[in-house]
Amino acid sequence: MKKITVVGAGFVGATTVQRIAEKELGDVVMTDIIEGMPQGKALDLMESAPIEGFTVEVLGTNDYKDIEGSDVVVITAGIARKPGMTRDDLVKINSNIVSEVCENIKKYAPESIVIVVTNPLDIMTYIALKKTGFHPSRVMGMSGVLDSARFATFVAMELGCSPKDVDAMVLGGHGDTMVPLPRHTTVSGVPITELMDEATIDMLVERTVNGGAEIVELLKTGSAFYAPSAAITAMVESIVRDQHRIVPAAVYLHGQYGHDGIYLGVPVKLGKQGVEAILELDLTESEQAMLDRSAEAVKIGISTLTI
Ligand code: APR
Repeated sequence: MKKITVVGAGFVGATTVQRIAEKELGDVVMTDIIEGMPQGKALDLMESAPIEGFTVEVLGTNDYKDIEGSDVVVITAGIARKPGMTRDDLVKINSNIVSEVCENIKKYAPESIVIVVTNPLDIMTYIALKKTGFHPSRVMGMSGVLDSARFATFVAMELGCSPKDVDAMVLGGHGDTMVPLPRHTTVSGVPITELMDEATIDMLVERTVNGGAEIVELLKTGSAFYAPSAAITAMVESIVRDQHRIVPAAVYLHGQYGHDGIYLGVPVKLGKQGVEAILELDLTESEQAMLDRSAEAVKIGISTLTI
C-alpha cells in the first residue's frame, strides 16, 4: 500500500485527502500545526468509509514522525494573503512555513516525491527543492493541471459541450503571467482555433488567467479548493499508479524553453519516479515571448529570497 502525506489540513489539504481516500490511492496522513484539527477531520473521513466503501487508512496528526516512509508528500501548508499584506510579506511567511515542512520531509520521508501547492507556487517549489536537496525530478509544483482545467471548463461552457472532451494546455508561472495555449487546446482532437473566433478565445484566456481571483472574489474569505484538490489528486494518481500521464506542472528547468534554474509550468510525463520527462513544444514567437515574461516574473520572485 502506498503512503501519501498531505501537509496542511485546511480547505485544499483536507479536500485532497478526501479525494485520495475515495480513490483508494493509498493510506493517507494529514498533518497541520493546529492541534486536534487534522485528527478530527481524519476521524470524520474514516467514518465516511463504510458509506463510501473505501478501505484505506486516514490518519490525522501534529507529529511529523507519522509521515515516515511516505511515497508522496503534498504541501498545502501556508497562509493566504490578508488585506494590507504585501506580496513580499506573504512570500516571507510562506517560505518559512515551507522551509520548516521540507526539513521534516527530508528527515522523515527522504525517498518521497514532493508536490508543492502553497502559493506563490513557483517560488515555494524552488524553496522546496533547495530545502529538501532532492533531485529535481522529485520536487514539482501543482499549477498547470488546475489552470488547464479552468481553461477547459470555460471552453466547454462556451461551446455547450462536455468538459470531458476538452483538453487544454496552459504553460508558465501560476499567476498573472500564465500562458494558455489555444493552439494546443482541443475538443475531441479539434483545436479550439477552428471552433471559435479570436475574440472569444481571448475572452476565455483572460478568464483563465483570472480564474483564481474570480473564485476569491465570490468566496470573500478563502480561495479555491475543489478544482485544486482534483488537480493534486490527478498528479498523485499518475505517480502512485505509474500512469505516465502527460500534464503541465511546475518543474525545474535546466535549459528547456531557454530557461535555467527556475520553476516554470511546462508539459511533463509523471510516473513513479516523479518527473520522467519534460516535453518541449515548438512555440510561436509570441508564445515564447509570453513564456519568457512569465519566467522573468518567477526569477524576480526568487531573487527576493534570502535562503
Ligand atoms: N505546518 C503545518 N501546517 C500549517 C503550517 C505549518 N507550519 N502553517 C500553516 N499551516 C496550515 C494552517 O493551519 C491551515 O490549516 O495550513 C493550512 C492552510 O489551509 P487554509 O488556510 O484553509 O488554506 P487553503 O485554502 O487550504 O490553501 C492552502 O494552497 O492553493 C494554495 O494559495 C493557497 O497557499 C495556499 C494553500
